[in-house]
Amino acid sequence: MKNLIFIFLISGMFIRCYDTPYVQGERIYNMHCQNCHMDDGSGLESLIKPLNSSDYLGKDEMICIIQAGILDTIIRGKDFLPKEMPSFEKFSPVEMANLVNYINNRWDKDFKEKTIIDIQRAIKSCR
Ligand code: HEC
Repeated sequence: MKNLIFIFLISGMFIRCYDTPYVQGERIYNMHCQNCHMDDGSGLESLIKPLNSSDYLGKDEMICIIQAGILDTIIRGKDFLPKEMPSFEKFSPVEMANLVNYINNRWDKDFKEKTIIDIQRAIKSCR
């Protein structure tokens, strides 16, 4: 019986690890974003904007926001309490690609994978 439970737990771990093609992106999300934006991307009431319905899904601006942070309080008519999105300057283009592909793959209905070249181009175009 104990062995059965063990096998069940281990297989559960594998299923969990491989249900996204962007495993590194998921790891980065869980480490750096989830505490504010939540696992399901729903955000936190009037404090943290949701990611799962963000207008920036699939857009290059998302990359700039992650790099530079942002503070603007209104999204689609809903007023959020002023709380800053911190900047994450240290992600490499590969990490950034995995992160945004993970986010977009989960929540953008028109998901299209971004290459590392796309990311580098986007970063150059940020103000
Ligand atoms: C300390 C909490 C915090 C963490 C950690 C955090 N964010 Fe945010 N994020 C915010 C807040 C607050 C906003 C809204 C900022 C504003 O516009 O006023 C936001 C906004 C955003 C937006 C814009 C959403 C929209 O539709 O306007 C994106 C995209 C985003 N965050 C992505 C991320 C990613 C990716 C990570 C992890 C690398 C992350 N955030 C980590 C707090 C956080």
